[in-house]
Amino acid sequence: MVRILGIAGSPRQNGNTSLLLQEALRGAEQAGAAVEKVLLCKRNIYPCVGCDDCRKSGQCSLDDNMDQLYRKVLAANGIVIAAPVYFNSVNAQTKAFIDRFQCIWERKNELGQEVTDPLTRPARRGLFLSAARGDDPRVFDGAIKVMDRFFETVDVDYYERLLFFRMGEKGAAQKHPTALGDAFKLGEHLVEEISRHLATVT
Ligand SMILES: Cc1cc2nc3c(=O)[nH]c(=O)nc-3n(C[C@H](O)[C@H](O)[C@H](O)COP(=O)(O)O)c2cc1C
Repeated sequence: MVRILGIAGSPRQNGNTSLLLQEALRGAEQAGAAVEKVLLCKRNIYPCVGCDDCRKSGQCSLDDNMDQLYRKVLAANGIVIAAPVYFNSVNAQTKAFIDRFQCIWERKNELGQEVTDPLTRPARRGLFLSAARGDDPRVFDGAIKVMDRFFETVDVDYYERLLFFRMGEKGAAQKHPTALGDAFKLGEHLVEEISRHLATVT
């Protein structure tokens, strides 16, 4: 069964990105996936302290909830990250989570280790959902650069994006004519794509 991990990055409960994530995961479930959602603001995640311990060991020295999150991210077939734009990047909780993948980057790039199953790796896919108040789509440029590096680090070579500018107020995603339906369809599509690729490699 295809496993989809949803990461809710916003601290705003039932905010715009949270609603988009909910719909994407509903779509994924509808397409037959086993779905799990993690709310970053409910987890204990310290920001990276730059100690460089992971350069030698590939392991992070900080002791918090990240160990279980590394396992979930590296084992899932599909990863959906939902995070708002804050000051032209992803919000702090999401960025702290992403920065902590430095140890995974070191494992791969400095220590030459495999971090995901080579057999199913080509079928790994991602989805980035975001919302911003600004009225220019370039407001996502910084966040996209962050997500490019994140997905590359966790062996997701291909991810889709669903980005809504002029979406600031809480509840705006619900009022948008297509946003929730678009997220649902992309959740379904994600699972269909993964299943199709898994069928060719397993
Ligand atoms: C601290 C903070 C910083 C923000 N920075 C930006 C920004 O740089 N550009 C922008 O367009 N919107 C910005 N916003 C607006 C949010 O991206 C927007 O309200 C979004 O819908 C929030 O998503 P959420 O409901 O999932 O939390 C900011 C909001 C906050 C609270």
